[in-house]
Amino acid sequence: CGIVAYVGKQDALPIIIKGLKRLEYRGYDSAGVALLNDSGLSVYKKKGKVSELENSLKDNANLKSLIGIGHTRWATHGEPNDVNAHPHYSSSENFAMIHNGIIENYEVIKTDLINKGYKFHSETDSEVFINFIEDIYKKNQCSLEEAVRLALQKVVGAYAIVLMNKEEPDTLIAARKGSPLVIGVGKEEYFLASDATPIIEYTNQVVYLDDYEIAVIRNNNLQIKTIENVETHPYINQLDMELEAIEKGGFDHFMLKEIYEQPRSIADCMRGRLDVKSGRLVLGGLRDYMKKFQNAHRIIITACGTSWHAGLVAEYLFEEFARIPVEVEYASEFRYRNPVINERDFVIAISQSGETADTLAAIELAKSKGATIFGVCNVVGSSIARATHAGSYTHAGPEIGVASTKAFTAQISVLSMMALMLGYQRGTLPEGQFIQFLHELETVPAKVEKALALNSQVEEIAKQFKDVRNFLYLGRGYNFPVALEGALKLKEISYIHAEGYPAAEMKHGPIALIDEEMPVVFIATRDSSYEKVVSNIQEVKARKGKIIAVVTEGDTMVKKMADHTIEIPSSHEAFVPLISVIPLQLLSYHIAVMRGCNVDQPRNLAKSVTVE
Ligand code: G6P
Repeated sequence: CGIVAYVGKQDALPIIIKGLKRLEYRGYDSAGVALLNDSGLSVYKKKGKVSELENSLKDNANLKSLIGIGHTRWATHGEPNDVNAHPHYSSSENFAMIHNGIIENYEVIKTDLINKGYKFHSETDSEVFINFIEDIYKKNQCSLEEAVRLALQKVVGAYAIVLMNKEEPDTLIAARKGSPLVIGVGKEEYFLASDATPIIEYTNQVVYLDDYEIAVIRNNNLQIKTIENVETHPYINQLDMELEAIEKGGFDHFMLKEIYEQPRSIADCMRGRLDVKSGRLVLGGLRDYMKKFQNAHRIIITACGTSWHAGLVAEYLFEEFARIPVEVEYASEFRYRNPVINERDFVIAISQSGETADTLAAIELAKSKGATIFGVCNVVGSSIARATHAGSYTHAGPEIGVASTKAFTAQISVLSMMALMLGYQRGTLPEGQFIQFLHELETVPAKVEKALALNSQVEEIAKQFKDVRNFLYLGRGYNFPVALEGALKLKEISYIHAEGYPAAEMKHGPIALIDEEMPVVFIATRDSSYEKVVSNIQEVKARKGKIIAVVTEGDTMVKKMADHTIEIPSSHEAFVPLISVIPLQLLSYHIAVMRGCNVDQPRNLAKSVTVE
């Protein structure tokens, strides 16, 4: 979900609506705002997108307010409808609150409150939360701030909250644990948001709230205390994000813009780190931990979704270059499995948003067992970036499209550099080869550029397959994770069922699905498993499947068999995923657009999953 709040000298509503639109990629089931003026504290909320909320307020003349809170929701408790939308009033309607996250012990609290006579209008844990605060407020006859603190000491779960009080028109109270909250410090005004994107056009000075901290903005002053009531001193960070980076810049969709940004984002990711001329490769974040990395008995990579796919590519890279065993784990499985882990393990957590709840929990678990944790995140200052011992940012710039594209290739770029550094330091990668790989890596952005030039050809292919119901994606070796990623992209945004498989595993199941209706995407570039993939293509051909093949420029063998071939520039196989994924991103994009789907905000998904 996304949070935006404002207090200052400007009209709050337009700032909040604009901010919510910028945050809509985080959730878009319903949206709402609370405003405070002479006619009191009012809450307006609506099922659907922020624009629907905006439309519903068009004819309302009573919306002037110098303070406000807004929310765009990704439903957890209770279906998306007007009632379950945020903000929620407390029973007295004196307080309004927006909440991200999940309160795990809400049932117990709710029962207790019902016994005391409280009535609930929604099915949300958030409404329970605000009434719990109100109950403490009344019982203790304390300030709202004190009531919030006492409540937070009792709730179990994750939250980022912002509250308004009818009696205090210049005050916002906010707190976080496990869900992000950024405070923008302007001139006599403050902005609060789930990430910096709604804030950046007003100020580049931000404070990241930490877990178990409560911020009180009152009378143009920011005070932060822990939930134990100890005052902390807010550290003001300077953001160097450009507004342009979070706008569409002439593209129809953020996703397309982000696909096209990849030559630049990959180059940005390598800038200052890779210097081919001097044969140097430096990841600053790794410096203090290089010894631990080199001497690790095992590398464990943990992530979710697309980031997990980047982790799979890294498994091949690390094992090949550095000869250290690697395990790649879904964060959600890892954290609940009682995994065997100790201080000789080096754990790499990969996350675009840096906020994924399962990944964060996996990190905490590994940390508690003494492992070293290294983060590969895109969002600067995010929770995961701060929870790890060290890390390297991917520097891909803000990714707004829910389906991840440029973050994926930036993650693989960082992981490739890590693998090369590790192999070189350990002596498993001889200097000559190391230098050669640096050269190879440096050529990747130009090759991605060439792969993007295939766009119109991919669009033609998309036309022919836009109405099918199933898709199979097959690859081997480094291209196996690419097959998984290609299938994920397609299902995420076009709602066509798609499966990715190791090409050789096809004969153990998916081959049963093949008939003349079934398109199969092969990633069959010239690499060590090329001949084997060719045999797999023949197996599909023999069963009349439709073959779309991503091949290396100049290929002739696959061309003869496939219905469609997409030729990408050649590269060492270790870096092929950075290039071979491009046509697959474009294919899913075009199919989704042709099917009339909302590519940037596909149904039911969210960009940043802060619930487990
Ligand atoms: C969500 C997003 C995916 C993303 C995954 C992991 O499901 O929709 O695109 O890959 O979370 O997110 P992270 O921010 O940790 O990379």
